[in-house]
Amino acid sequence: MALTDYFARKPEFDIFPLEAADLPQAAAIHELRFTPCWSDGELHALLVQDTVFGFIARQSNALTRPITGGFVLARVAAGEAEILTIGVDPKFARLGLGWRLMRAAIREARDQAAETVFLEVDETNIAAVGLYRKLGFAKVGERRAYYQGVNGAKTAALVMRLDLG
Ligand SMILES: CC(C)(COP(=O)(O)OP(=O)(O)OC[C@H]1O[C@@H](n2cnc3c(N)ncnc32)[C@H](O)[C@@H]1OP(=O)(O)O)[C@@H](O)C(=O)NCCC(=O)NCCS
Repeated sequence: MALTDYFARKPEFDIFPLEAADLPQAAAIHELRFTPCWSDGELHALLVQDTVFGFIARQSNALTRPITGGFVLARVAAGEAEILTIGVDPKFARLGLGWRLMRAAIREARDQAAETVFLEVDETNIAAVGLYRKLGFAKVGERRAYYQGVNGAKTAALVMRLDLG
């Protein structure tokens, strides 16, 4: 393989448990994807809780500092899991990272004896709603006028659930 090919190759990603050292990269992705976003300190305050865990998509074929593709943060308590947030760098959208991160979180929730996974999503978030439906989540509720869009319009939050039984 020519050296130029070696440097130009596409990043490949593996999914790893999210650790405190990953949080600056996770916060950078949150900033790209959410307004308001969560700082690495806010993410840290969540991750140190016993009930909270996460996963990160990190480049596995890096020559130098690996690229972060996305991350997910979730919580399990009393048999119920909740997806707290998920974000994928737009540069790596639609490559299956969201799916892989969610599958890792769902597997961990099941390992921690969760029977259901809940999440909330803006009804207009086509990518996320599509991802959750593909994973088997179903709408179980709706909070009207829950989110405020950039143009001031209010949109509903869908409450979605996946049964792990
Ligand atoms: C939602 C998000 C995490 C999806 O991540 P992703 O890595 O791009 O998604 P994937 O490639 O894993 O897609 C898996 C499935 O989700 C659905 N999906 C993803 N992006 C989509 C889009 N733009 N339009 C429609 N469906 C989409 C599809 O069903 C897709 O399967 P397919 O590619 O076989 O059709 C990503 O768009 C994101 O970070 N959005 C901003 C943050 C956000 O909204 N988080 C959720 C808040 S509740």
